[in-house]
Amino acid sequence: MGVVSLYNFNFSSPVCSWQGVFCDAQHENVIGLVASGLSLSGFIPDTTIGKLNKLQSLDLSNNNITGFSSDFWSLGKSLKTLNLSCNHVFGILPNNIGNFDVLESLDLSFNNFSGEIPASFSALLSVQVLKIDRNQFVGSIPLGILSCQNLVSFDVSSNLLNGTFPVGFGAAFPKLKILNLAGNEIHGRSSQFSGLKSITHLNISRNSFHGSLMHVFQGQLEVADLSHNHFQGHVSQVHFKFNFNWSLLHFLDLSSNNLVGEFFHDLSEAQNLRHLNLANNRFSGQHFPRILKLSSLEYLNLSQTNISGDIPTEISKLGSLRTLDLSMNSLSGRIPYLGTNSLQVLDLSCNNLTGEVPFSLLSKLPQMKRFNFSYNNLTLCASNLSGKTFKTAFIGSLNSCPIAANPDLFKRKMAKHNGGLKLYLAVTLSLFCFLMGLLCLVFGCRRKNTMWEAKLLRPREEKNISGPFSFETDSASWVADVKLATSVPVVIFEKPLLNLTFADILFATSHFDRETLIAEGRFGPVYRGILPGGMHVALKALLHVSTMTDKEVAKELEHLACIKHPNLVPLIGYCLAGDQRISIYNYMENGNLQILLHGVQPIEDWSTNIWEENTNSGAQNVGLEELLKTWRFRHKLALGIARALAFLHHGCSPSIIHRDVKASSIHLDSNLDPRLSGFGLFSGLEDHNAHGSPGYVPPEVVQPISGPPTLKSDVYGFGVVLFELITGKKPLDDDYQDEKVVNLVSWARGLVRRNQCAIAIDPKIQRMGSDTQIEEALRIGYLCTADLPTKRPSMHQIVGLLKDVEPVADQ
Ligand SMILES: *[C@@H]1O[C@H](CO)[C@@H](O)[C@H](O)[C@H]1NC(C)=O
Ligand SMILES: *[C@@H]1O[C@H](CO)[C@@H](O)[C@H](O)[C@H]1NC(C)=O
Ligand SMILES: *[C@@H]1O[C@H](CO)[C@@H](O)[C@H](O)[C@H]1NC(C)=O
Ligand SMILES: *[C@@H]1O[C@H](CO)[C@@H](O)[C@H](O)[C@H]1NC(C)=O
Ligand SMILES: *[C@@H]1O[C@H](CO)[C@@H](O)[C@H](O)[C@H]1NC(C)=O
Ligand SMILES: *[C@@H]1O[C@H](CO)[C@@H](O)[C@H](O)[C@H]1NC(C)=O
Ligand SMILES: *[C@@H]1O[C@H](CO)[C@@H](O)[C@H](O)[C@H]1NC(C)=O
Repeated sequence: MGVVSLYNFNFSSPVCSWQGVFCDAQHENVIGLVASGLSLSGFIPDTTIGKLNKLQSLDLSNNNITGFSSDFWSLGKSLKTLNLSCNHVFGILPNNIGNFDVLESLDLSFNNFSGEIPASFSALLSVQVLKIDRNQFVGSIPLGILSCQNLVSFDVSSNLLNGTFPVGFGAAFPKLKILNLAGNEIHGRSSQFSGLKSITHLNISRNSFHGSLMHVFQGQLEVADLSHNHFQGHVSQVHFKFNFNWSLLHFLDLSSNNLVGEFFHDLSEAQNLRHLNLANNRFSGQHFPRILKLSSLEYLNLSQTNISGDIPTEISKLGSLRTLDLSMNSLSGRIPYLGTNSLQVLDLSCNNLTGEVPFSLLSKLPQMKRFNFSYNNLTLCASNLSGKTFKTAFIGSLNSCPIAANPDLFKRKMAKHNGGLKLYLAVTLSLFCFLMGLLCLVFGCRRKNTMWEAKLLRPREEKNISGPFSFETDSASWVADVKLATSVPVVIFEKPLLNLTFADILFATSHFDRETLIAEGRFGPVYRGILPGGMHVALKALLHVSTMTDKEVAKELEHLACIKHPNLVPLIGYCLAGDQRISIYNYMENGNLQILLHGVQPIEDWSTNIWEENTNSGAQNVGLEELLKTWRFRHKLALGIARALAFLHHGCSPSIIHRDVKASSIHLDSNLDPRLSGFGLFSGLEDHNAHGSPGYVPPEVVQPISGPPTLKSDVYGFGVVLFELITGKKPLDDDYQDEKVVNLVSWARGLVRRNQCAIAIDPKIQRMGSDTQIEEALRIGYLCTADLPTKRPSMHQIVGLLKDVEPVADQ
């Protein structure tokens, strides 16, 4: 619709049939006119609307009206609602408005009215809704307003009012529910609000109100925005106000005032609070307030509130939290697990926080709107952040990325790179080298892949080292019944001189904090941590082996430690803490195959990190995702695992049955080579449930026949993994609904049998002429998953078969 002028309306003709026009029962008089959003522009001329002298309701909102004719004011005899919101009316609002003495609702918001609010408002005795916000009214709210005692909603926000607030305002409006004075420069005292018995929404933000909060909290307040004023006094005065119902309050903003003292000791009465801002006041030094009961909280702003001490871990229980601002305080300790799912804005800048930025948080940052960790003593591995982000949101933090993903690449990049990043990396690198040098002096450097971590200190003065210690995961709780953690040794096979104790493990895992939990395996939870000496380790709590004696466990573990192969995750040590047994492995920093293929957990993708800027030098630096699109890489994983199993089956005496070959047991080390974990643990244990994981168990082991696992059941499990690598599909899924096609194995085998291999291949694989080899590999999977164990090839044979389908050099 184009621009229509009000002159285009012919008001002398009968109009009762027009859209938006409402007439009385006799069809004689127009009593209602709704002309909202019709692009009406200019002045309302004489003898148009002004002639509709029985008009009760007029809505001209959302047009481009700039002013009125003189006869407009004669409508006052009958008009009950007038809406001129969102127009361009300018100039002074004449005292004629006082003619509208039966008016119940007046909305002049979003216009360009200037001058003072007319004193004749005092004549609007019936008015309930009065909105004149977003104009340029100056001066004061006229005293006459106090006569409008039927007011329910009053909004004068965002004007240029700078006078004093009428004395006795509160007492005059027992029915007022909504009061918005925000964004003016109104001078007044808090006591002037007392008497607002029905108030639900109070917004007096950005004005010049003084006094204590005592008089303000009353009525049925749901929303209280008192921010950016000069309220003073003790904040807990709010709390002494009797007959105020805290449970209704869901929005409280007291920020940028001059409040003193300590927060209300117990905020728990305000259980429905969704928005709490206490920022920028003059509170006394204090600890973090108790917030656990505020489970609906979506916004928490405690910036500049003089809090110190730790950020409580209970903050992770606030499941709806979207914004958390704790900046400019003296908070210390580590950043706790934040339950990051809903978090969009996080500001922890300018505190005294230490330690590593939790991985769960780092991986979440790219999805967040805003974050700031600057000016703390934090370390982190900014693997998935751009250099620019690091420079603006982590000012003063130490980037402690292990040079893990590809050391060669790193060297190459160092040589090529120009500009600031190069210098930055060089400085960081030399710092690491220095620290590593120190370490080598102290501990001796035998392992070549020791992690380059900055967190190398021993917890000599750690306090909580007296047990018993109890820990919890989602599915288990466990206890380490030791008296003194420092008296329980940790055995690290290759580094006996380190003299580690259980206290070091507690320190490395922040007391087995959930934050460090990386998996819940067959034997129990698995944690990660960095032990003194920079050893980045995975710690497996073996919850289900308590029937064995310490001696048996130690013997078994020492035996396992001797089993070494480039495709096995090495066991490097253990700790017997009371009847709690913990085995220790090198940490595999590139995740496992299940995560990689099916994205079950976030990938800590080290290969697309800060030195990704120059990505044209070979396949290795294009990132794990890209690598996974090549058959060459998938083949390498399959062959590596086949080698590991062949070694366990045929290279060890007696041979070792893995019993749980599956994608999540296959890890990627720093060179992106596959490594099998969980082998040979306590094979003697009578555990009937430990015959493998769903989807990977061969028919002869499945209940009810349930024979013992054999070498050939490992072969079956390997076949399933091979199918996963080729098809990209999960072993069990809702997709397999058919009577015959119940899982990945029956689906893939069916396709091989019908000679339809091409359908099975993961569309993500960029074939590049390797189709025949991939189809051959699928047939190897077919052999491995034969129903009859005797028909399955040995792992030795499988290694040979896989080598035959190795991709040619440039694929
Ligand atoms: C409103 O009217 C003025 C002049 O009458 C014109 O300049 C302006 O573009 C119009 N605005 C809209 C949104 O129609
Ligand atoms: C006036 O009209 C605007 C736009 O149509 C609407 O949002 C507003 O609620 C109306 N005002 C009143 C008081 O009904
Ligand atoms: C309000 O603002 C006007 C114009 O800026 C100024 O002249 C007047 O002194 C101010 N009044 C008060 C009470 O600050
Ligand atoms: C208070 O009013 C101001 C100005 O209209 C607005 O920006 C602010 O969001 C309001 N506060 C609440 C809690 O609605
Ligand atoms: C916290 O409150 C302060 C003071 O009102 C404000 O400046 C800051 O932007 C707020 N932070 C967030 C994240 O909203
Ligand atoms: C920060 O923490 C360190 C040690 O934990 C302490 O020595 C220092 O005084 C703290 N700084 C501030 C500003 O609180
Ligand atoms: C983080 O906070 C610091 C200190 O207030 C500031 O200098 C920096 O610009 C902020 N960075 C971002 C990304 O907001």
